[in-house]
Amino acid sequence: MSASSTKSILVTGGAGYIGSHTVLQLLLSGCHVAAVDNLDNSSHLAISRVSHLAADSANRLSFHKLDLRDRPALERVFSSNKFDAVIHFAGLKAVGESVAKPLFYYNNNVIGTIVLLEVMAAYGCKKLVFSSSASVYGSPERVPCTEDFPLAPMNPYGKTKLVVEDICRDLHRADPEWQIMLLRYFNPVGAHPSGLLGEDPRGIPNNLMPYVQQVAVGRRPALTVFGNDYSTKDGTGIRDYIHVVDLADGHNAALTKLFEKDSKIGCEAYNLGTGKGTSVLEIVSAFEKASGKKIPVVFGERRPGDCEILYAATTKAETQLNWKAKYGIEEMCRDQWNWACNNPYGYGSSDSNPQDEIISTKTKGGGDSWFSDICITS
Ligand code: NAD
Ligand code: WQD
Repeated sequence: MSASSTKSILVTGGAGYIGSHTVLQLLLSGCHVAAVDNLDNSSHLAISRVSHLAADSANRLSFHKLDLRDRPALERVFSSNKFDAVIHFAGLKAVGESVAKPLFYYNNNVIGTIVLLEVMAAYGCKKLVFSSSASVYGSPERVPCTEDFPLAPMNPYGKTKLVVEDICRDLHRADPEWQIMLLRYFNPVGAHPSGLLGEDPRGIPNNLMPYVQQVAVGRRPALTVFGNDYSTKDGTGIRDYIHVVDLADGHNAALTKLFEKDSKIGCEAYNLGTGKGTSVLEIVSAFEKASGKKIPVVFGERRPGDCEILYAATTKAETQLNWKAKYGIEEMCRDQWNWACNNPYGYGSSDSNPQDEIISTKTKGGGDSWFSDICITS
């Protein structure tokens, strides 16, 4: 049993890709979890499926559909629960969209966080785990990236992450009772091995793995590889892909550290990656192997703003959080493919998805009544 089990955790963005996997791991490790989400980029079915996978532990889960910027709604959740810590995933994450709509991004990601921090302070909850991103490093001069590298995000999305990191550092400086973990994720991919939880991007995917997945299931004809003239082993960009289940476990490790007796954590940043770099073509070939499908590729121009090579230094998380990613590219592609096969249209096809019928018949009512059992309207 970890130091964080039996604690009560608020998870913002709990219906999202990383949030849903983390909520499940927290429930299985014994925590009480209140998930909040405005469902703008997620489905209530993710919460139903988390409940199903959590089995008996699902009675420790509640869900509140709300926007973080709706302060009265958020206050109602705090006034009826005593949270030991908050994990804050809620935010918008599409880099290209952030360039086109910067105010939309600053409003949601920064103001949403400020409202959350103010409400936490008002209710005496001063332990936070924040979803930051490797995008705060911009295009670093060398790799692997250590946490003390200069921070120079190259787009409004990454800048919202840096602004929130700075707010957190200032907050801790002003009031050392705040204990804050800034987790900088590298490239989360993969899905829950059950095939029930995964990433469900709306519209054309921006990121490599969901795009490859959609080519494999026949939704798109070919992958455009953004540049094959980088000075890397095969000319394509290199990133640090991390299995979403490893990432979810990283949050458990962060909470364990926060709840350690006499924990000295003030406001600290940690990279969550594998420390291994993989090229675009290596991902394509691993996905072809996992799926048995040919992934047609077309070589295109470099994508503006892309860096050549980015991967994490993992020593800080390994030594201080006692956490290390377990899964490799093979498992990431295997689980991504399993999710794709079971949900070729993500959660969107779920009106007719047999998986949700199975889940609902095993539970008290239909898919939606299962959801309403845990959904508390604020
Ligand atoms: P996601 O879009 O699947 O999940 C985010 C969730 O937050 C969604 O369910 C969305 O509906 C919700 N949300 C957004 N704004 C909200 C608001 N104002 N109030 C309430 N709910 C709101 O994204 P994800 O991939 O799970 O990412 C989670 C967090 O991790 C984000 O903050 C993201 O920026 C960060 N992150 C993601 C990646 C990645 O590649 N997936 C990498 C680094 C960091
Ligand atoms: C990976 C590689 C592309 C799509 C982004 C955000 C970052 C973080 C993770 C949130 C690159 C290439 C991609 C395609 C391609 N998210 N690619 N064809 O750009 O490393 O990081 O997601 O915090 O902030 O910037 O991830 O998956 O978009 O790209 O060739 O259709 O795949 O050029 O080399 P990226 P990605």
